[in-house]
Amino acid sequence: MAVDFRGHPMFPRGFNSPTRFEADVYDCEVWGTIPSDIEGTFVRMQCDFAYPPPKNDWMTGFNGDGHISAFRFANGSVDYRGRYIKTARLMAERKARRRLFGVYRNSFTDDPSVRHLDRSAANTHAYWHGGKLLVLKEDALPWHIDPHTLETYGPWDFNGKYKAVSMSAHPKVDPVSGELIAYGYQAKGDLTDDVAVYTINAQGEVVKEVWFKAPYVGIIHDIAITQKYIIFPVVARVTSLERLKAGEPMWEWDGSRPTMVGILPRDGDAKDIRWFRGPARNTLHFLNATDRNGKITMELPTSDGERDPSQIRRWTFDMRSRRRDTFEEEVVSTVNGFLPRMDDRFLSLDYRYAFVTSRDPSRPADTQRAPGMARMTTNVMQRLDVRTGEVKQSYVEPVQSLQEPCFVPRKNAQHEGDGYVMAVASNYESMTSDLLIFDAQRIEEGAIATVKLPFRLRSGTHTNWFPASSLPPVKEA
Ligand SMILES: [Fe+2]
Repeated sequence: MAVDFRGHPMFPRGFNSPTRFEADVYDCEVWGTIPSDIEGTFVRMQCDFAYPPPKNDWMTGFNGDGHISAFRFANGSVDYRGRYIKTARLMAERKARRRLFGVYRNSFTDDPSVRHLDRSAANTHAYWHGGKLLVLKEDALPWHIDPHTLETYGPWDFNGKYKAVSMSAHPKVDPVSGELIAYGYQAKGDLTDDVAVYTINAQGEVVKEVWFKAPYVGIIHDIAITQKYIIFPVVARVTSLERLKAGEPMWEWDGSRPTMVGILPRDGDAKDIRWFRGPARNTLHFLNATDRNGKITMELPTSDGERDPSQIRRWTFDMRSRRRDTFEEEVVSTVNGFLPRMDDRFLSLDYRYAFVTSRDPSRPADTQRAPGMARMTTNVMQRLDVRTGEVKQSYVEPVQSLQEPCFVPRKNAQHEGDGYVMAVASNYESMTSDLLIFDAQRIEEGAIATVKLPFRLRSGTHTNWFPASSLPPVKEA
């Protein structure tokens, strides 16, 4: 049966139709000048589709085959490499030459021939830690790939020490200790209320494991850490056996559910977790948290309901009061981007800046050439000062739509925010993808360089930066 995406409601013929190829571009075309103090690899994940998924899979945006793009910077030049993650799932479907896996996180909808296979699409995020490049998707173990060739080695369970069946795509690297705080939810299998959290040392060895129960089976897509605590928000996207048996993708919004935030001391055990309660919030990603004088503050993009515009808000948890089980909420900024990033060298510590790609509805943005993606179209790169609310920003071309940004420290920089911010943009005029690079301290001056890819990448998921000094040496081709 030939591959045919026509007529699939999730695949209009515009910018985000499947790309389905792998590529190498040696010495990419660059407009402007790439500073020589950018040395390392910028990675971004996308969901791409080898085969058309079922037509009722409205969560296809998170259910495509994982595809990684790596932009390697050295001496003012950039080399590009793009590869599929060769998951068990992709290889089984390639062999059958058809789609075998069903809708998003619902094994009831899979072809019986793949019931025993790892379901990971390895499509969400990539981390370099403990000498391994790990590609993550929250319903399964990480997939280990080569940081330079992007060759897939296989799933990774930390030498059998990571017992949970899943690892979230948003573990946190403590910049002080080098530890990775990783966790899995539905950690004993689909629909289980078990959460497992692991401390993995800088060498990549599991050194601590804690299991606890979630208050309900809601999504725990991301966490935040401080130097003393791990913060686990459980938010109002829920699921059930009935829902899965009916053949639906896993999640549905339920605004009647409270937001429940579990706070676990990093040196504690399950008995030490405290739960705080708040109204339903539509949120998935958390910017950063800090603790000071018994108060934990956490900044995050959120909205009240599923259709409200996102804002950057601050939640405050008072750890001094033993009886208090609610948290305070205030608005930091009406900046509406929902994928803010920071200078990750300051994660868990006092910090000031968020880097966000947002939509300014008063300025032009081409929402026509990416059908179905109008809500995701962004036209402004911003630096938000979370202490004062001050925003510095610049607009991109109306034909460009920015994806998740990533902060890149200048080589040998010490101060927070001293570096660059990068983001891939869909360019609807050329129907190709651009990588825009801004000076993070002078965002308002516009992009200082643009890497011009000669092809189109689909809209991406998450991004990361690996300094060259942290990676093994490159063998030149
Ligand atoms: Fe995410």
